[in-house]
Amino acid sequence: MTPIVAALRYCARVPLLDSLTRPLRNLRLSVTDRCNLRCQYCMPEDEYAWLPQSGVLTFEEVVRTLRIFLSLGVEKVRLTGGEPLLRRDVENLVSMIASLKGLRELAMTTNGVLLADKAAALRAAGLQRLTVSLDTLDPKTFQLLSRRDDLSRVKEGIDAARRAGFANLKLDTVVIAGVNDGEVGSLLRYSFDIGAELRFIEYMDVGGATHWRKESVVSRAQILATVEREFGAVEPLQRDSAPAERFRLRDGKTFGVIASVTQPFCKQCDRSRLTADGVWLKCLYATKGLHLRDLLKSGSSDADIAARIRTEWSARDDRGAELRASMQERTPLAPRAELQKQPHLEMHTRGG
Ligand code: GTP
Ligand code: 5AD
Ligand code: SF4
Repeated sequence: MTPIVAALRYCARVPLLDSLTRPLRNLRLSVTDRCNLRCQYCMPEDEYAWLPQSGVLTFEEVVRTLRIFLSLGVEKVRLTGGEPLLRRDVENLVSMIASLKGLRELAMTTNGVLLADKAAALRAAGLQRLTVSLDTLDPKTFQLLSRRDDLSRVKEGIDAARRAGFANLKLDTVVIAGVNDGEVGSLLRYSFDIGAELRFIEYMDVGGATHWRKESVVSRAQILATVEREFGAVEPLQRDSAPAERFRLRDGKTFGVIASVTQPFCKQCDRSRLTADGVWLKCLYATKGLHLRDLLKSGSSDADIAARIRTEWSARDDRGAELRASMQERTPLAPRAELQKQPHLEMHTRGG
């Protein structure tokens, strides 16, 4: 064992806690900022400033970075985008990551459009869990919400994922007033039919959500009331550090609610994010990040990079969603002009 590896192993035994005693366990890795949908809650504009392709981390750089994060206590890695299936040969990256020591869970969040072709390869490469975004079962609403006519492809993708053996499939639904809030019951029934767990997500005022208004948010309380009206009483299940609160219906079926707007969960937040070009963000709402790519390229050793990450995480006091919730007047996080100048603020850059 080299001295560097020994030092990293030693450090890993001491849990790395931030200033609010939250561990670093979970890394969301955006593999591309490109997307093939234009969901109104994330990418409502016609033009975007994209990350330069030349700056995107290679698979080797991603793997090196992940090794360092795993040595610091990260156990769960989730590949996101943009749309992660747009990254060429992403299944090769999956197989490179899947064999890393210390990784407990490797998951992906996808919009499902390209999943029918990729599901089997992803499973074979070692992807353990899949979450598919599904906001509507109505083709017209799908077109309105995402500006593409791809609902049938998404459903084919979900079917392919089940056939490929992704048993613990999850579905994510952002609920928007007047758009898809009438579909709470039908989406839930669909999830039960296919044996997936659906999570209703409150519409958040993240970077990119330039059309966000508080009147468009359908709250956890409203969602639960609708479910109870249609399905009877719901019972809350034990909570962990995940964003979703889980509930059980009387017949044992389960679903989740992610109440980032009305009941933020920053106190338990063990997540950080890495953009496709190597910027490490300690919060979904963070305005600045650590440029790991510069460190990777400048000849820093793994131990140097690990030390920088330790210092940054130890000082972390981010509570983005809680701070937003305490604001009197709440408007979108960043205006369009600011997003054009700083694409790292965009949700599609930092991973949905
Ligand atoms: P699992 O616990 O493994 O299911 O992961 P997850 O719930 O983090 O996965 P997913 O990517 O499906 O996240 C669901 C949604 O929760 C995201 O799309 C966001 O809308 C929201 N979310 C995820 N992480 C955070 C976070 O760190 N902060 C906030 N405020 N919201 C988050
Ligand atoms: N509010 C809530 N969730 C969002 N996502 C993106 N933008 C928002 C937003 N404004 C999440 C959704 C989507 C995933 C890709 O990112 O869960 O399914
Ligand atoms: Fe974590 Fe920031 Fe999300 Fe709060 S807003 S849960 S601190 S990522």
